[in-house]
Amino acid sequence: HDLSSANTLSLPSRAERFVAPRTVGQLREVLVWVRQYGWPLTVLGGGSNLILPERLPGLVMQPAMTDWWLEETAGEAVRVHVEAGVVWHELVMALARHGFWGLENLALIPGTCGAAPIQNIGAYGVELAEVLETVHLLHLDDGREVVLGVDDCAFGYRDSIFKRGLDGRVVITRLVLRLSRRPHPRLGYGDLASRIGATPTPLEVAEAVCAIRREKLPDPEVLGNAGSFFQNPLVPAIQAEALRAAYPDMPGFPQPGGRIKLAAGWLIERCGFKGWREGHFGVHDRQALVLVHHGGGSAMELLAFADRVAGEVRRRFGVELEREPRLAGKVRGG
Ligand code: EPU
Repeated sequence: HDLSSANTLSLPSRAERFVAPRTVGQLREVLVWVRQYGWPLTVLGGGSNLILPERLPGLVMQPAMTDWWLEETAGEAVRVHVEAGVVWHELVMALARHGFWGLENLALIPGTCGAAPIQNIGAYGVELAEVLETVHLLHLDDGREVVLGVDDCAFGYRDSIFKRGLDGRVVITRLVLRLSRRPHPRLGYGDLASRIGATPTPLEVAEAVCAIRREKLPDPEVLGNAGSFFQNPLVPAIQAEALRAAYPDMPGFPQPGGRIKLAAGWLIERCGFKGWREGHFGVHDRQALVLVHHGGGSAMELLAFADRVAGEVRRRFGVELEREPRLAGKVRGG
């Protein structure tokens, strides 16, 4: 099964076997099957935060349950149940049109709802963890269902238990989100506030976020990419201070706990990489944190290209960049 168009980096990749269960019942059956034959299992969402190897042995499963529904709640809160295969952006826009607040800053993030908790998707000052109530999942080893509360998920910046202790051990089937009917616009990030009126609707905020993203981020339909290729590094305040002495215009955002979040895009741009291209890969010319695939390249080449970029940032600033997209299966040489 060809996965080249199932990953937004457009890396060439073939799955030995592929299945897209449309109900949780079917998904459970797939897990029984996988255990019976001992196949390695790769769970695929929208393929937008993933680096795929040329061959994926075993079984690739893409949850395709796409229902979502509102739970009637009294008062301001609105509870939303969302199955894993729902496209994130479509959910965001549908709920914004309903006039519910909470997801509007997360418009146009590619991928599926089931994948959203893994890296705790976040943008324009909001993270998924702030609106998430529970995550429903199945354990791969025995198929048991578990419901995790938000406090059990160890959420951090681009981080969760699903990247750590539960990595490769569970499949997420459903999220429960808590939104609000009461207006609470979050317009503090960047120039978001300057683009909308004083009393916006959630739909207006979502549309402003879409406009900003379209200006900066390449459309994967046109140019292969996985959004930010590196996380923004968190460094001790003393290190940020030393860097600021040398580079007074360096952006830095203080975090709870005292560390400073640096802008990886700025560091990469200052190394002269913005718009740089070598072979099949390049650094986006409007957002240096995004690596782009011009076509014809492989996962191995992409990792080598990324190492060049991260190596130069390390040499120049003494800052380590951590990759954001995850490696599926085993990328040879990676
Ligand atoms: N910057 C540069 N040059 C660049 C890119 C950025 O100098 O080429 C500077 C900007 O001027 C700004 C700062 O870096 O001062 C931050 O830039 P931006 O607002 O574009 O956001 P970011 O930190 O680069 C993060 C997320 C994005 C998210 C935006 C908005 C990470 C790894 N990335 O990017 O998420 O959309 O903030 O909230 O945290 C993604 O994860 O795939 C993603 C696109």
